[in-house]
Amino acid sequence: MPEDAPADPRNVYAATKLHQEHLVACYEREHPGTVAIALRYHNVYGPRMPRDTPYAGVASIFRSALERGEAPRLFEDGGQRRDFVHVHDVARANLAALTAPAPESRAFNVASGTPHTVGEMAGALSAAFGAGAPDPEVVGGYRLGDVRHVVASPERAAAELDYRAAVTFDDGMREFAVAPLR
Ligand code: UD1
Repeated sequence: MPEDAPADPRNVYAATKLHQEHLVACYEREHPGTVAIALRYHNVYGPRMPRDTPYAGVASIFRSALERGEAPRLFEDGGQRRDFVHVHDVARANLAALTAPAPESRAFNVASGTPHTVGEMAGALSAAFGAGAPDPEVVGGYRLGDVRHVVASPERAAAELDYRAAVTFDDGMREFAVAPLR
């Protein structure tokens, strides 16, 4: 999805995220000379994610399960795709937005540009967690409003902010599998 694809928030959380962009656009209109940049983080993961909370995203949920000796539980068939972006890349995207030579007010995807299935992510974490870690389990089901695939075009951020994610999926997941949680 490019940033100018029609927005279609499916639940309260998604709707409030879009609302924040609208509020920032109002601020910009009321304060001439300001530039409003919205960074649309995709599925962030990395060291010091919180453990044992449903609110931090699937990477942290799976990592917490492995820590407890339990299998990551895959909804649907595990084939749903997301763009998992490492927290260090997210930090770099923020710096790029703050220091871009002539930024224009608009939204930017902050993504790795290489989507993976949730099943692949669970498999990579289990494999790197260590010998004896349980394999992911497909449990089916879904949450109300879940979207099957969410993948982002990284092109605008590359062209206008000179931002490209640097951490590969394999390296990032290998590190995250054994990184401390908070
Ligand atoms: C994220 C938000 C969600 C918001 C949506 C749209 C978080 C944690 N989630 O959802 O609130 O509505 O963006 O902006 O911020 N999954 C499993 N097993 C689990 C948990 C999740 O298989 O135990 C799967 C889900 O089916 C989903 C995928 O993992 O396909 C990703 O889930 P999640 O990390 O919650 O992120 P989003 O769905 O992208």
